[in-house]
Amino acid sequence: MTLETGTPTTGTGFPSTDELMRELSEVFAASKVSDIYPGLAQRRRDTPVMEGDLLAEFGAPSMAAGFDGSRAVYTLFRYDDVLAALKDDETFSSSPMQDALGPLLGTVITGLDGEEHRHLRALLSPAVARENFGLWQETIVDPVVTQLVADVAAGDGRADLMGFAVRFPIRIIYEVLGFPTDDLESYELFQARALTTLLGFGSTDPAMADKAMANMMRALESVQGLYDDMLPIVQRRRAEGAVGHDLIAHLLRAEVDGVRMTDHEVTVLARSLLPAAAETTTRSWSNMMVCLLNRPELLDAVRADRSLVPKVVNETMRFEPTSVANARLTTRDVEIRGVTIPAGTGVTLMQGAANRDEEVYADPDTFDPFRTGKPSLTFGWGAHMCIGMNLAKLEMVSALNAVLDGLPGLRADPDAPAPEVAGITLRGARALPVVWG
Ligand code: HEM
Repeated sequence: MTLETGTPTTGTGFPSTDELMRELSEVFAASKVSDIYPGLAQRRRDTPVMEGDLLAEFGAPSMAAGFDGSRAVYTLFRYDDVLAALKDDETFSSSPMQDALGPLLGTVITGLDGEEHRHLRALLSPAVARENFGLWQETIVDPVVTQLVADVAAGDGRADLMGFAVRFPIRIIYEVLGFPTDDLESYELFQARALTTLLGFGSTDPAMADKAMANMMRALESVQGLYDDMLPIVQRRRAEGAVGHDLIAHLLRAEVDGVRMTDHEVTVLARSLLPAAAETTTRSWSNMMVCLLNRPELLDAVRADRSLVPKVVNETMRFEPTSVANARLTTRDVEIRGVTIPAGTGVTLMQGAANRDEEVYADPDTFDPFRTGKPSLTFGWGAHMCIGMNLAKLEMVSALNAVLDGLPGLRADPDAPAPEVAGITLRGARALPVVWG
């Protein structure tokens, strides 16, 4: 059964979905930075291995610098250097991610190193294997985006598509995890908690430090609420034999070296997928829409030839990624381009700068869906490469096709400011004002 969506959040004790989205927009747009790329090009040229933390220069929190921002940090800008660091997970530890995300989410796979990481990844991998995607696309992704676009289409021919962008990834991961889809109240609570959890991640503006702390407290309450709701579902699914193709069933069945996960471990892992799967996809999709709405001829070409959709998704990931930086910690002295980075130093990997490296991409500041060549580093590389990449791409393709089908003549609202991408730590559209018909 498919849930009605777009319903106001009622009786959950949370602000309405629209109010939470307004708060998120405030947090997401907290940084006033829009075009970061000329600055990144200059660093790539002048100080490809920079002593210092570019994120700190923008006043953005940096995982590489540690909790109190006191750890020394270097920043890498060139494609080859960022790629080499991502590949060498022995020298470049992911522990800063665990330090930053652990207090909110417990053990996070992205923050583990070595054998511990390999073990957890092996348990998670079958759940997000390619074989599941056809089924998820048919039974979850396509119906969800079609329903949500129908909600938008029922309006008056004018909307801010950020409402759609925020809702569809949460709804999809809710169903992919295997939560009961016939319980509207549980879904509304899940969505409100998921959004509130995102509030704990998003603030990038030091002027909003008090607000960020209050949001963190709300996020902590929400993640506890998610845990308390998810654990009994996990326990029930195990008691029922862990059958089915949803993610929780896969995790319950997963076994590596004779070891299976406990109900607590499955719950913590499933919960940690929320911010990985929701916020990133929302913002990436919004960035793709900015690229298209500001290029009406390309938008028309894509509308007419849907084989271009996956190409537009790939080029968006290179050209306007949501996550422009990643964090690591050196475990030994390492020399890059004649600069020695000492052991125990934080490293900010600017994959956003690497994606526009002129030594790798011709005319890197042009949005060109027909580009061929090396893949971008937006989903990472090596041991920690995004395990949800194919699901994220599937969602982005499906959601773009759904708005093109369901909102005929879709274009930027001529009476609203042109949409733009803003932010530094995680970049996304401030708004997506559109008209159709
Ligand atoms: C467009 C959307 C997405 C982007 C841009 C993105 C980006 C990334 C990146 C850059 C990493 C590597 C982090 C690192 O090297 O430290 C990563 C890891 C990860 N992503 Fe995604 N992701 C997206 C969607 C998803 C989705 C939908 C899922 C859900 C299944 C997901 C689950 C994960 C997990 C579990 C990891 C950790 C893998 C590991 O450490 O072994 N991601 N993601």
